[in-house]
Formats: sequence, structure tokens, C-alpha cells
Amino acid sequence: AIGQLRKSKDEPSSGVLRVRVQGRVQRVAKQGGLMFVTLRRGLNLMQCLLAGELAKTYDALTLMRETSMEVFGELWEVPAGAHAPLNRELHADYFRIIAVAPGGDDAFTNLVPEDGDPNTLLNLRHLTLRHDKPSAVMFVRGVLEGAFHTAYKEMDVKKVSPPALVQTQVEGGATLFKFDYYGETSYLTQSSQLYLETVLPSLGDVYCIEKSFRAEKSLTRRHLSEYTHIEAELDFITFDDLLTHLEAVICRVVDLTLEDPVAGELVKKYNPEFKKPSRPFLRMRYADAIEWLREKGIKNTEGNDHVFGDDIAEAAERKMTDEINRPIFLTHFPVEIKAFYMQKADDDKRVTESVDLLMPGVGEVVGGSMRIWDYEELLAAYKREGIDPAGYFWYLDQRKYGSSPHGGYGLGAERFLAWLMKLWTVREACLYPRFMGRCTP
Ligand code: 4AD
Ligand code: MG
Repeated sequence: AIGQLRKSKDEPSSGVLRVRVQGRVQRVAKQGGLMFVTLRRGLNLMQCLLAGELAKTYDALTLMRETSMEVFGELWEVPAGAHAPLNRELHADYFRIIAVAPGGDDAFTNLVPEDGDPNTLLNLRHLTLRHDKPSAVMFVRGVLEGAFHTAYKEMDVKKVSPPALVQTQVEGGATLFKFDYYGETSYLTQSSQLYLETVLPSLGDVYCIEKSFRAEKSLTRRHLSEYTHIEAELDFITFDDLLTHLEAVICRVVDLTLEDPVAGELVKKYNPEFKKPSRPFLRMRYADAIEWLREKGIKNTEGNDHVFGDDIAEAAERKMTDEINRPIFLTHFPVEIKAFYMQKADDDKRVTESVDLLMPGVGEVVGGSMRIWDYEELLAAYKREGIDPAGYFWYLDQRKYGSSPHGGYGLGAERFLAWLMKLWTVREACLYPRFMGRCTP
């Protein structure tokens, strides 16, 4: 741009910055004969001042929120506290409506009030997304995904794109979405883990950011039917290496996201108490967590004291993370409550080399483990779980052709974002959330 911001009427108008701004009406305020119109273009806002005859035109007097328009004029510097974003104001000498938005009963703010009924807002998600908070969340989400790509690149973890249409389960049959694939039974993938494992010998450490699908037949604050799954798999590692890597990725991604000038400010705005996690994260064995829950009198889903072998349900997990109030690596879950592929611990064959990363306000954000890498042991695991290994020939072959100790994890992008931005539910972290009962718009 050529020219300067104008500061007062007394300055000559030559050399003053003249601009044209296009956007949609975010807010209209009238003050005497003046009209202040805040225009929105993406996340950027510009306050425009219409004065004199301009403020008396039919188009000005009937201006509705969401109408798109363009405004021409001089750019002024105004004092802080004048409600003008960036302390700038566009003093209009001409404006033009590009396309109107409805008034009357269809008026935007009546239709989708920011604090409206959540279900109504979801029915009109395509309009709700124009509000400040949803746009901020979507923006930070984009930066966050970029931060993962950057962090993995820095760590020399290669990106691949596994298939979404599959014929094997990863996390249990109960949450599989089944469909007809040219006459064959197939599923929407629950996790790309098994496919990531197969590329370790060709690419080395790998990751993917893909959709995973779960037919979750319950409505909770943190379960979706379709979610973005950030998964990585690392070769020739120990369980301890896996935990160290996870800490490094998470801290790097948080730093990168907060370093983004816009995303950093938005996180501060919506989650002012956010504390960067410090390394090392607290490590707690499942058995110790059970003890902790017993001591605190936090009951299991049957209303009894927790015992070794119980699943730690969402409510108990939340209480634990909220009270401890820092990231927790919960490790060494019993074999019976974890997936078929998990490696058993050397020092205690009842438990697996597994980890859930729990975050305050959300609970489980990451699930990971070392993988069984012995062929016979994996076959035995299929048998124990009652899974027919035939469909997994390609997964078993990894254990036949130069196997290796390896492990990895999956991180739910929506849950991570819910933690970062203090969202009440992961539904707020999706452009168009999918959960039981909702597949529209
Ligand atoms: O714990 P999960 O089921 O683990 C796996 O899928 C492993 N195969 C991942 C791996 O090792 N590559 O899921 C991993 C994470 C969870 O910790 C959670 O953050 C997220 O995925 N997740 C969900 N997010 C939203 N809605 C759901 N229904 C989710 N199910 C899992
Ligand atoms: Mg899990």
C-alpha cells in the first residue's frame, strides 16, 4: 500500500492511504448521524465509518448482518479503545452492496444466536461457522495440523496415506462401520496403525493424518463417529523411546502453534489459563491409577471400588486428570482390556507396553503401545481375541520378513484441540461434526 494512515482532519489528504475493502457485515452501530460498520473478511475485521449523506442512503439504513459489500475511502488511525480493530478506521466516501442478507425473521443473529441451543446451532452449522469462536477454532485447527507436519518433518518421520476402506478391525468389532464393497463386507477404517506398521521396512518411521471412523453408540463430550487421527509408527524402539518421542512431538506442536501470531493470540483469548506442558510428563502405571482411584473413593461404572482389570471409564478418568491437572502418561494396561496387537511387558506378562496420554479437561488424547513383533505370539493373540487371522496375512507377514521391536500411537486431533482451546466438547473442534444421530449438514 502506498500512503499513510490519516490521523486528523487538519492533515492534507494527499499521501493519505486510500483503500477498498470487501467483506461481510459483522456489526452495525449507529451514533447520531454516524454509522459504524464492522466488515469481516475471514478472520480480519475492519471498522468503516459512514457519515453524512452516505449514512442516510437506503442501502445504509437497511444494512443487515452478513450482507457483503465493498467500501472505498481513507484509512485513519484512531485511538485505542475506539473499538476499531488494529486502531484503524476506514472513512468511507463510497460503498456498494455486493449481495444482501435477509432481514426479518431470517435475520442472522436471531437464527443462530451465539449462545443458542446447541442442536439448532448444529442444524445451521453452515451459518454458525461465521461466528467468532467457531472460526477461531477452525483456524487454530488448521495451524495445529500444520504444526504436526512440521514437527514430524523435523524429526524425519515420513508421511504416508493409508486407505480408509478396509477389511480388518483394529480396535474391536463393536465400533466398526460396515458397508458393501462390490458385494464384499468391508469397513471404514478405525485406525491406520496396521498399515503404518507395514511401511516401516520401506520408509522408516512414518505418520499419517487421516480420518478414522467409529460407530460409537453413545453420546459423550469426546466421542465422534468421524475424527481426524494423527498416527505415527516408529521402528527399532523401546517403550521408553516411544514415551520420550510423544513428549517431544506434543511439546514441539504446542510451541509451533503458539508461535503462530494469529493462532497464539486466539489460544490466549479462549484459553487464558493454558499452561504449556513441561517435560517429563507424569508417568503412572495402570495398577497405581487403580490404587489412586480406590484411595480417592472414585467408583467404577458398577458403583464399586476399582479393581485391577477394570476399564477406567470416562468419568473416573476425567476426575483423575482434573485433580492431578497436568498431562499423565498412564501405562501398562492389563492385556484383557487392550487391543490384540499390544506387546506384553517383560517384567509382568499380565500387562502390556501400552500408554494413554491423559490431558486435563479432556482425558485420553493419545493411545499407543509397543506391538507384538513375534509371529507365533501374534497368532496366539488373534486366537485369544477370537479374530480370524486370515484377513491379516499382510500384517502377519511383517513378522515373517525381518520383524523388529516397534511401536506407535494415535492422537485424536479434536481432543487435542479441545484441550488446547478449552472446548466443552470435541464437536466444537469439527467443521461439521459427525456423531450418533447427526450426519447433516
Ligand atoms: O485409543 P485408540 O482407539 O487407539 C488406536 O486407534 C490405535 N490403533 C492408535 C495407534 O496406536 N496408531 O484411538 C487413539 C486416539 C484416542 O486416544 C482418542 O484421542 C482418539 O483417537 N479417538 C477418538 N476421538 C474422537 N472420537 C472417537 N470416537 C475416538 N476414538 C478414538
Ligand atoms: Mg484408547
